[in-house]
Amino acid sequence: MTDQHTVYRLSHRKDFSGITAHQEDIPTPQPHEVLIQVRNVALNYRDISIATSRYVSPVKENLIPCSDLAGSIAALGSAVTDFSLGDRVVAAFDPTILYGPRQGLGAGLGGMVDGVLRAFVALPSTCVVRIPEDEGEQRWGEWASLVCTGVTAWNALFGNVPLMPGQSVLCQGTGGVSITALVFAKAAGATVIVTSSSDEKLEMVKRRFGADHTVNYETSPDWAEDALRITKGRGVDFVIENCGSGTISQSLKAVAYGGIVACIGFLSPAKQEDMPDVAKLALLKGAVVRGIQVGSKQMLEDVVRFVAARNLRIPIDREFGFSREEVVRAYEYVRSGKHVGKVCIKVS
Ligand SMILES: NC(=O)c1ccc[n+]([C@@H]2O[C@H](COP(=O)([O-])OP(=O)(O)OC[C@H]3O[C@@H](n4cnc5c(N)ncnc54)[C@H](OP(=O)(O)O)[C@@H]3O)[C@@H](O)[C@H]2O)c1
Repeated sequence: MTDQHTVYRLSHRKDFSGITAHQEDIPTPQPHEVLIQVRNVALNYRDISIATSRYVSPVKENLIPCSDLAGSIAALGSAVTDFSLGDRVVAAFDPTILYGPRQGLGAGLGGMVDGVLRAFVALPSTCVVRIPEDEGEQRWGEWASLVCTGVTAWNALFGNVPLMPGQSVLCQGTGGVSITALVFAKAAGATVIVTSSSDEKLEMVKRRFGADHTVNYETSPDWAEDALRITKGRGVDFVIENCGSGTISQSLKAVAYGGIVACIGFLSPAKQEDMPDVAKLALLKGAVVRGIQVGSKQMLEDVVRFVAARNLRIPIDREFGFSREEVVRAYEYVRSGKHVGKVCIKVS
């Protein structure tokens, strides 16, 4: 093993020109850490907002970005007994949250603390989860995608009152969270409605990923009405609310009495003067409006088991290389919103 490896840092956060490559020493694992050779990093919308100073939480200066890795164990700390060299692993989004709800803003990788966009990373072995061997093609990107997006979708659907077979789910948009929730909900026997601004993307999610119904939210701005029509007036049991205050009125119109609106994202904030009265809308529906903060290591174990047991495939739109040019292209691609599902970086 060479002594140095490639590490990306955000030297500033005005735009993607702040993404800079460095050669740094490969860390030596502390007694309770493992050194992971990073194979693949999955990007999230969060990484775009962090690199452009639009993230909702504080961010470390000169940050190593990104939270989602899949890789293999390259070295073991002296006190680590439950992993072996070469084990294939993923690591929890926030290494400090092993179970239960996240406390405060926590220590999500690639936010307040350095993340995983590097060739090697040392992490506490307690936050690491083994993944199974892939049959045939390597699926590192799919496993990496479970870390933030997968756990978030799992938490939204199964983390409180769990989704039941025969229920219905509405997923907003065709990005990572929405399409991963579509895959999980279909595997759990639900009927799924997907919304998008693009008819082409809607055609794809129906044909390739099994969406039962689709609605174009641009041409049908009152898409809750479509959801009510599709569910014969009953409403949907779960809404994957990716967009925030700009869409929550429609979500609360679309949700069934007693249903759950899982508040995940903030892609479409309302103007101050248009802020909906969420308390009143939720009360009238007896609905649960539930904030999601990714999830714990325990949820990552649950989601890895689910994906492995059902051999689920996580839709990866595109994988980019690890050169600086390719990394910047990957960021630009996510920002463009052209993707359906996940966008990843092949590290090694
Ligand atoms: N709370 C958490 O724990 C957590 C975890 C993960 C992500 N998030 C947040 O969840 C959101 C989605 O993340 P992501 O990684 O899935 O993003 P992404 O992959 O970049 O997906 C973005 C997609 O959202 C859709 N979209 C944008 N505005 C919309 C609107 N008004 N109505 C419906 N769809 C809309 C677009 O789909 P179309 O092109 O099809 O229109 C767009 O392609 C982000 O805000 C992210 O920060 C939160």
